[in-house]
Formats: sequence, structure tokens, C-alpha cells
Amino acid sequence: ALPVDLAGRRVLVTAGGTREPLDPVRYLGNRSSGRQGYALAATALARGARVSLIAANVDLPDPAGADITRVGTARELREAVLAHRERADAVVMTAAVADFRPAEVAEGKIKKGEGGPPVLELVENPDILLELSRERPRPGQVVVGFAAETDHVLEHGRAKLERKGCDLLVVNQVGAGRAFGTEDNQAVVLGADGSATEIPHGPKENLADRVWDLVAARLAPGGEP
Ligand code: C5P
Repeated sequence: ALPVDLAGRRVLVTAGGTREPLDPVRYLGNRSSGRQGYALAATALARGARVSLIAANVDLPDPAGADITRVGTARELREAVLAHRERADAVVMTAAVADFRPAEVAEGKIKKGEGGPPVLELVENPDILLELSRERPRPGQVVVGFAAETDHVLEHGRAKLERKGCDLLVVNQVGAGRAFGTEDNQAVVLGADGSATEIPHGPKENLADRVWDLVAARLAPGGEP
């Protein structure tokens, strides 16, 4: 039988990658496909949750039954998350959010010119996960972050978990051919309680289900009917 252990729960999932415009035709972006976030939304729905999905530049079929909000930039993603998080029992920040954005967006297309290549000035984007973890609008809300690391995965992951203040951090090892845009994923999930759970290489749906197992174990008993 299908586990419906998230029945009566509301979850908020972000997916994809933000794009920060440089001019009307160009942006700074990343390689996130949105597949892992969509797998989290689909598996939560299958387990009975109500799902709000914030999709940043995702080109995939929508999971049936999710309430979807589409965003482009990190600041739009933040607004959407803040608008939905109050009712969420768990928030999973799967989206790859740009740490920086161009200080100015050119009104017209940036052209080649006499002065040589332009120098881009960047400013910092808000760290949404940090903000979510710090001020919880609901007691017992479970906040989950994702981290892609290329080296010293556990050490960097543990430091990031502590810095961000989330309850769980799903740490992916990335690099040539791994994770971004692929069908499969593998990870270790670090808990604020000191736990470390290895999730073996497999479909992103499997990783998603294991993440929901860990979230479900941390939710307060019950859930609204
Ligand atoms: O700091 P780093 O980008 O490696 O952390 C990744 C985690 O933090 C992801 O869960 C991502 O969604 C979140 N994040 C965020 N706001 C940012 C940058 C990352 O919420 N500006």
C-alpha cells in the first residue's frame, strides 16, 4: 500500500534555478533542471500532502495537483516563498538560488563597443534559506536545504547546515556528469540533531521519498484533518 504519511500536511517546495537579468536578452543563471524539486513535489502529493511548488525557470510537465507559482529571479522566489510559508508544515528549498545579481539591469541590449568588454558589478541576493530557518512562522515547521558540493562534502555540508540553521541539509556531490540535469542523484542528508543519512545513487524520486521519510519523522504528531 502507498504510505499516506503526509496526509493533512502542507508542504512548500522550491525547484529549478533562478535567472538574474543583465539586459533584456541576457541573464546569469545555473544548470538546475528542476527535476529534483519536481520529484519532491510529486512524491509529497503521492504521500497525501498538499503541495505548493515554486518553480524557477523549469521546463518540465507540472506535477498534477500541486499549486504552482512561477518565478524568475531570486527576489521573486523569495516573495513567493514568504507568501506561502506560513501555512507550511515543511519547507524544502531545492531551487538553486543565485547568490549574486547584476547591480544594474541595462535597459537596452549591451553592445560591443569602443571601451572593450563591460565589467559586471554584482550585488548579493537575499539568502532565503537562512531567513526561513531563523524566523519560523509556525512552531515545529521543518526547514530543509540543499547543497551541492564538489569536495570535502561532509565537512562543507556540516558547516553549511550550521550557518543556515535549517533542520536538514541534503548534500549532493556535484562535478562532471553528476546531479545537475541528470536523472539520478545520490546524497547524504545531514540533520541538525547530528544525524547523517546516506541515500544511495538512484532515481530522484527515490531521493525525494527518503527526504520525506526524514521530514515526516520530524513533524509534530497529527496534522490538520
Ligand atoms: O549557500 P548555498 O547556495 O550553497 O546553499 C544552498 C541552499 O540555500 C539551497 O537550499 C538554496 O535553495 C538555498 N539558498 C537560498 N538563498 C540563496 C542561496 C541559496 O535560499 N540566496
